[in-house]
Amino acid sequence: MNAPLQPGLLPAASPCTLEARLISKSYRSGRLQVQVLSELSLAIAPAELTLIVGPSGCGKSTLLSIISGLQNPDAGRVVALGQDISKASRQVLERFRLHHTGFVFQGYNLFPALTALEQVQLPLSYLRLPRREILHRAQEALAEVGLSAKTQRLPAELSGGEKQRVAIARALAKKPDLLFADEPTSALDAASGQTIIDLLHRIARHHATTVLCVSHDPRLIRHADRVLAMEDGVIHRDWRGDIRLLEETP
Ligand SMILES: Nc1ncnc2c1ncn2[C@@H]1O[C@H](COP(=O)(O)OP(=O)(O)OP(=O)(O)O)[C@@H](O)[C@H]1O
Ligand SMILES: [Mg+2]
Repeated sequence: MNAPLQPGLLPAASPCTLEARLISKSYRSGRLQVQVLSELSLAIAPAELTLIVGPSGCGKSTLLSIISGLQNPDAGRVVALGQDISKASRQVLERFRLHHTGFVFQGYNLFPALTALEQVQLPLSYLRLPRREILHRAQEALAEVGLSAKTQRLPAELSGGEKQRVAIARALAKKPDLLFADEPTSALDAASGQTIIDLLHRIARHHATTVLCVSHDPRLIRHADRVLAMEDGVIHRDWRGDIRLLEETP
């Protein structure tokens, strides 16, 4: 009989686009060294929306920044799209992020002086695409998030939910293999939050994008393909299938 699978991992030979192996991270706080991640391992399947949940301060954002290559772990390895990014140089990492990843944050990170269309076009210009292609992709991404009628609006002229949809369009227009979202719905009301998570789910399905979202918003649980629960620096539960049951579990 096979040994039970450790929470966070995938069965052998399953397709996997993102893998963290024995990741540890601690921060110094005054004279104390606080261990945030303790030999945490996980494997994420492609074309799915995986949600990592856990109490505030348990290390979700730290984990996300490490597995997306924004921050180095103290120990352990991160393999993204088959590439060991924990050993990559800064330049290689920047290229990797530019070409393969998209990010969505709680605070939207939009430029106040740019229209919705310009916000989405900007990262595409770094990809050195032809101007017509940039315009086409940006319009297409804004249409996909339902904002075709508001492409000329500035952030101040958009609601919170609309701002987050612009941020999603900006990430989507790059056609990323990996999409990372840190608390994308926390600042939004129930209806706008629902729209955002539906969009992230659709992106995973229709664009075969690996979507990894961290949040302490329990409303997101039922919309994920897989939920990983984090506590004390490790993944302690791994749930897929009838996720609704998880909501009823104390
Ligand atoms: N740069 C830093 N320097 C020192 N301590 C940090 C740093 N970043 C995070 N921490 C600490 O590490 C722990 C985990 O922080 P993290 O932001 O990863 O938690 P989180 O699970 O995302 O929390 P939340 O749900 O509130 O966003 C917290 O105790 C935090 O205070
Ligand atoms: Mg956080």
